[in-house]
Amino acid sequence: MSNAPLNQDQLKRLVAEAALEHVEDGGTIGVGTGSTVNCFIDALAASRIRIEAAVSSSEATSERLRGHGIRVIDLNQCGGLDLYVDGADEFDPHRRLIKGGGGALTREKIVAAASQKFVCIVDESKRVRVLGKFPLPVEVIPMARSLVARKLAGLGGQPEWREGFTTDNGNWILDVHNLDLVDPVAVESLINDMPGVVTCGLFARRPADLVLIGGPQGVTRL
Ligand code: A5P
Repeated sequence: MSNAPLNQDQLKRLVAEAALEHVEDGGTIGVGTGSTVNCFIDALAASRIRIEAAVSSSEATSERLRGHGIRVIDLNQCGGLDLYVDGADEFDPHRRLIKGGGGALTREKIVAAASQKFVCIVDESKRVRVLGKFPLPVEVIPMARSLVARKLAGLGGQPEWREGFTTDNGNWILDVHNLDLVDPVAVESLINDMPGVVTCGLFARRPADLVLIGGPQGVTRL
């Protein structure tokens, strides 16, 4: 067997498989979006676990789940969820996250809010001491794009319109560079309060409950 360090794709698969131990047979779970979650969906389908249904955070995830024969239901069809599994673009030592690199942040935040336990699956490359190296995605109602961009510039950030991209909700994304996120809870509230903002990709008020990190030493927990 080779001793070569695992590459990023292998780390994603490793951490995705580790998340399976949190999934109960017969349960209904929330499922996030992104390449790490895709590994989780594939691992779930290949496992012996048979869930009742999934609540999905994006059209892409719904398609992948259905492709594996996993039933997708609307959040309104279920009371609440025990478990939400999702990736992240960055995580800090307090399990606070930046999400939305794939543009699914609003539905991700809704499903996370509906779940008792949020297990975040990441590889080591997503670890930071202070959030903000990754530009912060902000979903905006299209007519408010420049208004919100000016307000975000007023906070010291450099918003960049993700031109050509429309979210599953029919909205647009501003990716904000160089924001000071030393107090991410405060910034999350500040941005979410701006008229025209649907939500921002900070998951600080509701951080992950557990972060599983795939690294050279295997999977570690935070
Ligand atoms: C999707 O909108 C994001 O929040 C993803 O969770 C995030 O971008 C992580 O994706 P990867 O697993 O592809 O890195």
